Amino acid sequence: MSISIIGAGNVGLALGQAFTQRGETVVYGVPEPAKYADAVAALGDKVRVTTTQEAIAASDTVILAVPYAAVSAIAQSVPDWQGKVLIDATNPLAPGLSGLLAGTTTSGAEELSKLARGARVVKAFNTTGAENRADSRYPQGMPMMPVCGDDAQARQRAMTLATLIGFEAVDMGPLMAARYLEPFAMTCIHLAIKQGQGRLANQKANQKAPPSASFYACLTFVLDIRMLS
Ligand SMILES: NC(=O)c1ccc[n+]([C@@H]2O[C@H](COP(=O)([O-])OP(=O)(O)OC[C@H]3O[C@@H](n4cnc5c(N)ncnc54)[C@H](OP(=O)(O)O)[C@@H]3O)[C@@H](O)[C@H]2O)c1
Repeated sequence: MSISIIGAGNVGLALGQAFTQRGETVVYGVPEPAKYADAVAALGDKVRVTTTQEAIAASDTVILAVPYAAVSAIAQSVPDWQGKVLIDATNPLAPGLSGLLAGTTTSGAEELSKLARGARVVKAFNTTGAENRADSRYPQGMPMMPVCGDDAQARQRAMTLATLIGFEAVDMGPLMAARYLEPFAMTCIHLAIKQGQGRLANQKANQKAPPSASFYACLTFVLDIRMLS
C-alpha cells in the first residue's frame, strides 16, 4: 500500500525519505512533476513523482505538505475522496509569520475537512520541523507527534506512520484538537523568532547535559520555518 504526498518541498521530501527508508512506497504529487524528477529519484526506487491528481488517486493515504494557500483548491479538486485518509501537515501561517489565519473556534484542518468531501481528515506532522521528520533521533528520546481526527481508524493510520518514522505518537482525539496543534506550531516560531530565544537555544545546545528532545524538535522546526520566510 503506497503513501501519496502532495508537495515535494521541505516537509514532503523529508517525510518521503523517512518512509522509503523504512520500506514504504511513496507517490509524490506536484504541479510540475519534471521539476522534482532529480530530487525524487535520489530517494530510491520505491518512489515516483506525478501530477497531484494522479498521486491522490494512487493511494488510500494522502499527506498534504503544501503551502496553506494551496490547500483549499487541492481539497476541492476531488469530487469525492472516497474515504481516503487525508493527513494535513500544513499550518495556516499568515504572511511574514505574523500569526495564524485560522484559530480559536476553528482550525485549518477543520476547514480542510469541510472542503475535502468524503475524506477522513487527520492533523499530524505539523508540529515539528522537516528535519525531525527525516531523522527523529535525539539523545533524550523520541520527539512526540500529536495526532487528531474524527475517524479513529484514520487517526490510527497516522499514528502508525508517525511511530514508523521514530516519533512518539500521541492520540489527541477529535479533529477540533487541531485548534491546539496549529498554535502549538506557532508557539515554537514565536519563542525562537519573536521572543529571540535563538541565542538561548545556542547556549542550551552547548551544555554538557543534552537538552530535551522536545527542545531540539522545536529548534529545528524554527530553523526550517526561517528558511521558508
Ligand atoms: N518547513 C517546515 O519545517 C514545516 C513544519 C511544519 C509544517 N509545515 C507546513 O507544511 C507545509 C509545507 O511546507 P514546506 O516547508 O514543505 O513548503 P515548501 O518547501 O515550499 O514546499 C511546498 C511544496 O508544495 C508544492 N505545491 C505548491 N502548490 C501546490 C499545489 N497546488 N499542488 C501540489 N503541490 C503544490 C510545491 O511545488 P512547487 O515547488 O512546484 O511550487 C512544493 O513542492 C506548509 O503548509 C507549512 O506551513 C512546514
